[in-house]
Amino acid sequence: MADGASGDAVAAAMDLLIRYGNILGAERLVETNNVCGASIYGPRHSKVLGTGDPVALFSEWSLDSKKKVQQISPVVSHACQLIGPRDPLNWELQGLDAATNEEIVKSEQYLASIGVSILSTCTPYQVGNVPSRGEHCAWMESSAVPYINSLLGARTNTEGRESTAAAMLTGRIPYWGLHLDENRHATYLVRTDVDVRTMHEWSAFGYWMGWHLRDVIPVIEGIPGGVDPIALKQFGASMNSSGDVELYHMPGTTAEAASVEQALNGKAPEQIITFTQKDMDAVDEHLNAGATGDDIDFVMIGCPHANLDQVREVARLLEGRRIMDGVVFWIFTPSALREVARRNGWLDIIERAGGKVMADTCPAIGQFVPKGAKRFATDSAKQVHYLPQIMNVEGRYGDTAACIEAALTGRMPERSAR
Ligand code: F3S
Repeated sequence: MADGASGDAVAAAMDLLIRYGNILGAERLVETNNVCGASIYGPRHSKVLGTGDPVALFSEWSLDSKKKVQQISPVVSHACQLIGPRDPLNWELQGLDAATNEEIVKSEQYLASIGVSILSTCTPYQVGNVPSRGEHCAWMESSAVPYINSLLGARTNTEGRESTAAAMLTGRIPYWGLHLDENRHATYLVRTDVDVRTMHEWSAFGYWMGWHLRDVIPVIEGIPGGVDPIALKQFGASMNSSGDVELYHMPGTTAEAASVEQALNGKAPEQIITFTQKDMDAVDEHLNAGATGDDIDFVMIGCPHANLDQVREVARLLEGRRIMDGVVFWIFTPSALREVARRNGWLDIIERAGGKVMADTCPAIGQFVPKGAKRFATDSAKQVHYLPQIMNVEGRYGDTAACIEAALTGRMPERSAR
């Protein structure tokens, strides 16, 4: 591949992987047939290059190739596009102009033409890409990585745009980090004094873990099995906003370790930490600290992308009610799930209340908020962590019901109701 026998794009991809693998100290590459990356480009990228040619864009931005390759060959592994910058139906609502939309469409079509599935979500596991236990993957997206490593027992490091693009074309990724058995054991033991049940509590627990653990692998003790996967979707996203926990073990729930001892590989933990009610409150305080008031003009639900139960719950809470004038309510999900929500009638209910079901993007990734928005409410620790810095808005954080109340009244409820 490196010699160019499979074309210059594959040679550039292999060159990238060899450089990357050498820096990491990987002994070899491993085959992968499951790659999730992000290679959609818009006008910002074209402007820097002075061309909107998809081959040139892919060559420069995805393959880090100084020389424009002649042609990008079709992908050799199962590959999908993660979340993108626009909603294919509501791009005008996002504030995009027609020319920008056109460039994004062109980029998306190009990726599709080389065989990339346009799933357009940060949660590919919700729309058909569910890797098996032990499967070597190359995935980006900090909320998806702990989900597939921990819940499913698949194996991936948190990859980047360039390494995933190279992996799609070669079917290889450096064999290091979480691909190796010996790097998948826990070193920290986490206990909890709090009965963590709701999605909001799991979110706070995850955020606190990221704060304290940074990038170690923990095992969490004492959680009964049967935890709702939606809560764990939020848990992983929060954990990787405040920290970088790519894998955790929770005996009885996650895929690999049946006991705390097995997770620790028979060794004593380097540290034992305990999550308390005080910690839960501290997360709540921290995530609301940037807001100077309770008035809300934008509500965002669906980070990571909402699953069907979340869309149904929002429809239930909004049914027969009316979002306050001057408040914009958006819930985000993948296009595939929006279609199901439409068929189930939930989309109509939400729209009748004055809200919108948006798809394939999110404010933090697409860098947009409704025109004039100053303070938003969300049930996502990740979105409130990032969006104020990206879009210069204030953020309020509460559970889904509190966010719905904010949408209906224009005010975030008092702390007791968060
Ligand atoms: Fe997904 Fe955007 Fe949140 S990418 S995890 S909805 S910040």
